[in-house]
Amino acid sequence: MPYKLGIMQGDYIGPEITAEALKVLNAASAKYGVPLEYENLPASGEAYDLYGEHLPKSTLKKAAECDALLKGPFGGPTDQLNHPKWMDVEKNALLPLRKHFNFYANFRETKVYPSLIGLSPLKQQYIDGVNILIVRELVSGIYFGEKGERTVNSEREFYDVESYRESEIRRIAMKAFEAAEKRKGKITLVAKSNVLKSSVLWREVVGEVRFLFPGVAFDYMHVDNAAMQLMLNPKQFDVILTSNMFGDILSDEVSVLSGSIGLFPSVSIGDGPFALYEPIHGSAPDLAGKNAANPLSAILCIPLLFRHTVGNERIALDIEKAIQITLSQGYRTRDLAIPDDDRGKILGTREMGDKIAEVLMNYV
Ligand code: IPM
Ligand code: MG
Repeated sequence: MPYKLGIMQGDYIGPEITAEALKVLNAASAKYGVPLEYENLPASGEAYDLYGEHLPKSTLKKAAECDALLKGPFGGPTDQLNHPKWMDVEKNALLPLRKHFNFYANFRETKVYPSLIGLSPLKQQYIDGVNILIVRELVSGIYFGEKGERTVNSEREFYDVESYRESEIRRIAMKAFEAAEKRKGKITLVAKSNVLKSSVLWREVVGEVRFLFPGVAFDYMHVDNAAMQLMLNPKQFDVILTSNMFGDILSDEVSVLSGSIGLFPSVSIGDGPFALYEPIHGSAPDLAGKNAANPLSAILCIPLLFRHTVGNERIALDIEKAIQITLSQGYRTRDLAIPDDDRGKILGTREMGDKIAEVLMNYV
């Protein structure tokens, strides 16, 4: 039986980078004889144009029949957020998609590529060998809590509620510890328990779960300190376990260590094998249609897909190797250009996809 993938292309640069990910996926499928089939699932802007809504029921129904979903970034230009096509896209499409399939555990792993070290704002000695996995809770917390407006002393007050249940913390903590066991075996819980009540519960529940994993070292850090420590001494971290909002913020921060947010894929899962693969960045309307976006965040979803959905580590490693070889030969998209370092090897979005597919087919 072929693996069935649901493809949500995303907005603006989304279709461009997703096409390159599919190019590499097709190359891998041909090279290793893994049969795949795809189905395009309209969502966000594409679904709005077709059906006048951002996440149609038909898309969710078809998605449920797939083994995994690959999606490009959703979202419109910041100056068009009042246009119905782009208004509340995140709240209408992305968040409900994650919630619908209960993708509560989001894995965001930063790696530092030796050939891109010059891109990092930190000195080489601080980032050599950094590899941090952020395990972000994805379907609860303040992004999903009660929201509202009220009038207080005759002025408007808007609010968002952060809350977590024990079971919501426990299930993601289990995933994070299981991941840590397969890595360096260290977890840092990041929260703000000196101020937030919900963070107190995180500490309590994770403090219990840790005893199920005696081989994993555990510590706790307040989020403000963690934001600083990530820049001061990123090598101290292995797995960071954190809530929805803190994980959102810290994963963007961590992406600068590898040089570009355009290098950051992610996978989200729930209790079963069904998974969502997506870059962590936005749809970059200013770059769209110019063959200039970096497709690596989408392409890097492909090894994750082979690792987690297909369960074939060797293919995953080969694709990662093809990407590493391509970068070490000096091929770059514009966002990865290091001044005076590699002029003449700047590739467009499509050419970067071609190059990686070619390296995978012929040199790995
Ligand atoms: C991310 C994004 C989304 C999030 C936005 C687009 C809602 O920033 O995946 O990190 O906050 O989860
Ligand atoms: Mg984000």
